[in-house]
Amino acid sequence: LRIAVLVSGNGSNLQILINAMQAGALPIEIVGVISNREDAYALTRAKDADIPVAVLSHVASGKRMGIKTFETHASTQLSAWQPDLIVLAGFMRVLSAGFIDSIPVPMINLHPALLPAYKGLDTHQRAIQAGERHHGCSIHVVTAELDAGAVLTQALLEVYQKDTADSLQARVQKLEHQLLPWTILLLAKSVINLNNQGKETFSMLP
Ligand code: GRF
Repeated sequence: LRIAVLVSGNGSNLQILINAMQAGALPIEIVGVISNREDAYALTRAKDADIPVAVLSHVASGKRMGIKTFETHASTQLSAWQPDLIVLAGFMRVLSAGFIDSIPVPMINLHPALLPAYKGLDTHQRAIQAGERHHGCSIHVVTAELDAGAVLTQALLEVYQKDTADSLQARVQKLEHQLLPWTILLLAKSVINLNNQGKETFSMLP
């Protein structure tokens, strides 16, 4: 499975995929990494693994790159790399409906909450404030509506009395690092199938 990864920050999830690829634990080739931030540590991780990168910074030379310009460049880059799957792992820009519809392969996103609860930002803080007993992470199909596409997989943990947003985030991240490679394995093995637009999903046991 040829995978392109979109990132904005640290890239710990990208690192998990790189490790799995290098160890032969996942049948994937990471064909390229796109970052919308030039200071993203994820870029260092990709370069260290000899993976091609494209930096489409949204504040290049003091000027904010509009989402349309970002998407035009991203489309060109993705066409060149020809991925079978696009993975948003800590990618913090909202993509337009036009762009999402134009991408001919499935696109999935890792979200730090048990969707459909807690779409958007500050999920850990909001879950604690609401007194949730459980929290976790989800991987869903990217659609035009933010964090609203079909949920493919989730991993859940218990929220402790003593949890802060930081402690909860740290534990959810550990879950993310398991959920992402597992989900990609399920896709690679066709246990989960997405149509070519990634708009409809069905799953079956092998
Ligand atoms: C993850 O917690 C992800 O759920 C959220 O951003 C974080 C990315 O972490 N959307 P990393 O860049 O993979 O380390």
